[in-house]
Amino acid sequence: MVVDFYPPINLVAYKKFLLYNIDMSIIKVEKISSTNDFIKENYAVLLEGDVVIAKSQSCGRGTHGRSFFSPKGGLYFSILLKPDKADNVGYVTQIVAVAVTDAIREIFHIKTDVKYVNDIIYKGKKAGGILCESDYLDGIYRYVVVGIGLNLSMPKGGYPEEIKSIATALMESCTTEQADSLCIKIRDLILKYYYEADIKSVLAQYQERLIEIDYK
Ligand code: BTN
Repeated sequence: MVVDFYPPINLVAYKKFLLYNIDMSIIKVEKISSTNDFIKENYAVLLEGDVVIAKSQSCGRGTHGRSFFSPKGGLYFSILLKPDKADNVGYVTQIVAVAVTDAIREIFHIKTDVKYVNDIIYKGKKAGGILCESDYLDGIYRYVVVGIGLNLSMPKGGYPEEIKSIATALMESCTTEQADSLCIKIRDLILKYYYEADIKSVLAQYQERLIEIDYK
C-alpha cells in the first residue's frame, strides 16, 4: 500500500506512522525537487527499502549532470539501500535495470530493453532511466540511493523539443493503482536481486536485455 503525504513531509510523523505500519514504507508526494535528493538529505532517519515517490519533480536529475524531464504522468521514485557489504554496489545499476524490466513485464505485460548502462527502452525509444548514487565513509556505505524515472503515459504538453525524437511512454494511460503496483514490484525485485539472487545470473539477464541504439 502506498500512502500519500503532502509536502513538506513531516518525517517525525512519518516515522511514527511506520512504527505501526511496518509494510507501508512508501510515501508519495505531489511534487518535489528530486526524490534522490530527498533520500540523500534524509537517509539517516530513513530505513533500508524506504521509498519516496513524486507525481512530478521540479529538478529531476539524470546521469552526467543532465536534467530529467519529470512532468505528471510519469513515475519518479527513489529507494534507499543501506548495504553492510560493498559486494554488489558496483553492479547496482545493472541489478536495478533487470528489476525494472522484469516488473514492467509482470505488471504491464510489455517487453522493454536496456541501452547501456541505465536507459529503459520501449519500442526503440527511451521510456525511462536509472540514477544510482552512493556515499562511502570509513569502510561502510552510508547510503545507496536508487532513483528511477519512467514515462508511464505521454505528458499533456508532449515532450520538449530536445528529447521529442527519442522519448516515449510505456502506456497510453495509466491508473494510480497501476503506477503504485509497478513501484512496489520494482522495489521488491531490487531488494530480492540485490540481496538474495545469484549476481552472476542477474548480470547474465542484464546482458540479454541490452540493445544498441543510436539516439539521433
Ligand atoms: C537518466 O536517464 O539519466 C537517469 C534518470 C533518473 C531519473 C530519476 S527520477 C527519480 C530520481 N530522482 C531524480 O532526480 N532522478 C531519478
